[in-house]
Amino acid sequence: MTDSYEANLAPAAAAVESADVAPRHDQAGPTADGRKVFIKTYGCQMNVYDSERMSDALTRDGYQPAMSAEEADLVLINTCHIREKAAEKVYSQLGRLDRLKSARRKAGSDLMVAVTGCVAQAEGREIARRAPVVDVVIGPQTYHRLPEALARARQGEKVVATDFPVDDKFAALPAAPAPAIRRRGVTAFLTVQEGCDKFCTFCVVPYTRGAEVSRPVAEIVKEAERLAAAGVREITLLGQNVNAWHGTGADGREWGLGELLWRLSEIGGIDRLRYTTSHPRDMDDGLIAAHRDLAALMPYLHLPVQSGSDRILKAMNRRHTAADYLRLVKRIRSANPDIALSGDFIVGFPGETEADFEATLQLIDTVKYAQAYFFKYSPRPGTPGAELEDQVPEAVKSERLERLKTLLTRQQRAFAASLVGRQIDLLLEKPGREPGQLIGRSPWLQPVIVDAKHGEIGDIVNVRITHTGPNSLFAD
Ligand code: SAH
Ligand code: SF4
Ligand code: F3S
Repeated sequence: MTDSYEANLAPAAAAVESADVAPRHDQAGPTADGRKVFIKTYGCQMNVYDSERMSDALTRDGYQPAMSAEEADLVLINTCHIREKAAEKVYSQLGRLDRLKSARRKAGSDLMVAVTGCVAQAEGREIARRAPVVDVVIGPQTYHRLPEALARARQGEKVVATDFPVDDKFAALPAAPAPAIRRRGVTAFLTVQEGCDKFCTFCVVPYTRGAEVSRPVAEIVKEAERLAAAGVREITLLGQNVNAWHGTGADGREWGLGELLWRLSEIGGIDRLRYTTSHPRDMDDGLIAAHRDLAALMPYLHLPVQSGSDRILKAMNRRHTAADYLRLVKRIRSANPDIALSGDFIVGFPGETEADFEATLQLIDTVKYAQAYFFKYSPRPGTPGAELEDQVPEAVKSERLERLKTLLTRQQRAFAASLVGRQIDLLLEKPGREPGQLIGRSPWLQPVIVDAKHGEIGDIVNVRITHTGPNSLFAD
């Protein structure tokens, strides 16, 4: 990796590059009639949401969706920078697109390639230099300028837009049209908060997404109402630190995520609410109370802890100890004993000893997770963790990951098994793999398979869990 990776990974506040894309002056009709776009999304749910919003903006500009890169005029790769493996995928994709573009040119046509997302933000100019196939590189805070950037690229310009502009990109992006919402189904994502001010020493997010920003209540309510009107019944609020969301409520008071959830539950048609991802430091009383009192709020909480060792938590700059986390879990469970917890774990952070790792196993053993995500530490350029000396050997990371996986998989199975015999409300979301089946999600997020005779997509049906499968539950 070259120096410019580091240069692009300065803290968000300092990472303001010149605005390469002028604001969109001309809002006149479609400019790309008949063109087709293929969007490939990597990374977290926020990238999924962003891809949807960019797709909506491109549709307004006259693009139609393509099913593959081969049938597209524009390929957009929405990237993730969280671990090295995720970031590497971009360059292999670009190699493939380079060959496709050459073949097109020989045949007298063209292919435009845009790279968006967190790799675009972190490695903007480097991508443009290393991969001549790329026409547009655009960071997550600049998506509202995508149509303008593409118009300029069509004139032969290479556009790199990775500044953190002050304008509200969400307000500037067009709202999803009802047919697009319907195509996406009865559940939807809604980003309410973006960016992160926590600066955990392993993580690129504060650099790629910038400082914490909360969207205003009125904007969120309007978007949720549009979703409801188009048939959405479950909304998952998104944010890199979603529980850091705050805003001024209709009553003039300062609201936290708990109050926002109450407000959204009043929208007719919205029967279920979820949110992700939360930081333990931002779980306030209002949010915990919502888990006790708000029926529409599903009893599932993704609350990453990363490690169970205070020494490592400190080195990670997590701003909480293992005991803080356990106390918090206790408070949440006393508010709602039915709540299922999920977590993220990193093994092999620099300096992690066997004793540190065992403290993580100990914490997991105490909490009992219904679901979990676990990763080998991946040193990310520009983050403080990557500079630490005592990096853990790959073989040790692999061995610890296996042990973690064994424990967490056992807990996940135990949780699923504990649901057998329970009567639950199930939101039917889509057809199952076998004909005559429908799939929905349990309140605790497991896929549940039922016979299609029980209802239609969009119905909430009361079913009894009969048995568990390898990755799902069955109900009747
Ligand atoms: N905002 C969320 C998580 C965002 S990233 C939070 O604070 O919990 C999602 C997960 O990726 C993290 O929880 C962490 O477990 C993992 N992760 C982030 N950076 C990583 C790295 N450098 N190596 C391995 N895993 C990492
Ligand atoms: Fe990354 Fe989450 Fe830490 Fe923010 S709180 S730096 S997003 S792990
Ligand atoms: Fe990846 Fe960026 Fe999400 S790094 S996890 S796409 S915020």
